[in-house]
Amino acid sequence: MPLDDHISVAAPATVANLTVGFDCLGLALERPLERLELRRTTRPGVIIASIHGCDGLPMDPERNVSGRAAMSALEALGVDWGVELTIHKAVLPGSGIGSSAASAASAAFGVAALAGATLTSEQLLPLALDGEQVASGARHADNVAPALLGGLCLVTPEGQVDHLPAPDWHLTVVHPQTVIETARARSVLPTQVALGDALGQMARLGHFVHCCHTRDAQAAALALEDVLAEPHRIPLQPHFRGIRQAAMDAGATAGGISGSGPSSYWVSLSASTARAVGEAVSAAFTSHGMEHHVHVGRVAERGAHVLEN
Ligand code: HSE
Repeated sequence: MPLDDHISVAAPATVANLTVGFDCLGLALERPLERLELRRTTRPGVIIASIHGCDGLPMDPERNVSGRAAMSALEALGVDWGVELTIHKAVLPGSGIGSSAASAASAAFGVAALAGATLTSEQLLPLALDGEQVASGARHADNVAPALLGGLCLVTPEGQVDHLPAPDWHLTVVHPQTVIETARARSVLPTQVALGDALGQMARLGHFVHCCHTRDAQAAALALEDVLAEPHRIPLQPHFRGIRQAAMDAGATAGGISGSGPSSYWVSLSASTARAVGEAVSAAFTSHGMEHHVHVGRVAERGAHVLEN
């Protein structure tokens, strides 16, 4: 079968940590979706033709998240052609909903799709992580894994990914229009934690995983607590306590900081409650004169995928 010369792919925004699983849990959102167009070139290598929706991102493929992931994918596939990328940023850098992961996942997946190659998730993940590393300096897979694979992912420090049955949740994600760099949000974390805190967190994470398998959406939401990272990061988040109060008063069951912030996510057990939570958090940010975007939806089953023309 002849290969396409052009392909459009998308990858979802993601919520990492999910409060209870710092650096090891992440889920894919239905929206926003990042879009990437790839065009095959006879000349090997990667060219970034244009970037839409975000100013100031590097056009040098070595320094660009999508560019770097595409380079790694071309190299891994051993093809003798190259790609030209047109990047449509819908997930902004420093938002806490996996901007670099969506870029990296769409690029690694897109090159494989353009080559007609079916790579396993174990093969794709390190290629996308090459891109993620350009942005964050680290190879965290808690955003990249769900951006690539969809659903709810548990990632070990060695990079092994387990798909968990996603709880039947309705999610409200609110993104205040400000930037928190992940490196800054990590710099406020302690390098050591008390044994009791580590044990408590381990038990909560274990309980959360159990609740996913028993399909108990409410108990899974009630397990979302964190003593390791979130308390140290709250002072960095704009109006976090007021937003949490507004979300809980509107009926959210649980929630917290999304990734390293400034976005937050709120879990509801019905679509109408998730919408009411969206209105409440929106009103709270508006009362502070803070621009923000609200996304209401489910856990996306699909990660990176080809878009039909
Ligand atoms: N787990 C990461 C953090 C998310 O919270 O710093 C960003 O990769």
